[in-house]
Amino acid sequence: MNNVAVVTIDGPSGVGKGTLAQYLTCKTGFHLLDSGAIYRALAYGAVANQLALDDVASLEKLATELPVEFKATSIIYQDADVTSKVRTEEVAAVASTVAAIPEVRAALLERQKAFAESPGLIADGRDMGTVVFPAAPVKIYLTASAEVRAERRVKQLKTQGIDANIAQITQDIRERDERDANRKAAPLRPAEDAVVIDTSDLNIQDVCQKAESLLWEKGLMK
Ligand code: C5P
Repeated sequence: MNNVAVVTIDGPSGVGKGTLAQYLTCKTGFHLLDSGAIYRALAYGAVANQLALDDVASLEKLATELPVEFKATSIIYQDADVTSKVRTEEVAAVASTVAAIPEVRAALLERQKAFAESPGLIADGRDMGTVVFPAAPVKIYLTASAEVRAERRVKQLKTQGIDANIAQITQDIRERDERDANRKAAPLRPAEDAVVIDTSDLNIQDVCQKAESLLWEKGLMK
């Protein structure tokens, strides 16, 4: 949909994209695309179906037919609620491996574009501004050091009663960044016209305020 207002939010894992995307979705009443959840659902399906992670033909087929649906804040895979199952570091690692396959990305492209419906879309991911919605009027790229992101993740896990090893989480984050940024297909990078916000020294409220101001400037909020 060409004339639907799209706001893209890209950046590495654990940088606060999801929180910002939800904030802007509430403020604008726009739809939300959590593209990472699509890749995570694909990873979940690949593991459940015991697909080899280099079996491109089977992964492409699964991506084309992916039986995932989003209902409010839940992720439904073949009628089962997999919301918490897809949020693990293990699923994330598989997601970033299958996400590097160009055939898989191509198979998921139209499905992501279809989220752009009136009155608008907040699209969260890695390549929203560069590949999926290159004409979006507002593009935001969030960044923060791997250490800061790992600390935030550990805090978040603690609130869920999960003890986490900061060194391990930092290493997981680094490995995922490395794979996402160095792949040939749609590597993680800011679009040329993206506004880059380094969140290392900002709290999430500041990030939300900055982003909201951008939407006001561009006339996407009234
Ligand atoms: O954002 P999230 O951590 O849920 O994404 C999981 C993985 O899916 C990322 O590490 C990345 O490899 C992949 N992904 C992607 N392109 C997107 C969104 C996610 O390659 N637009």
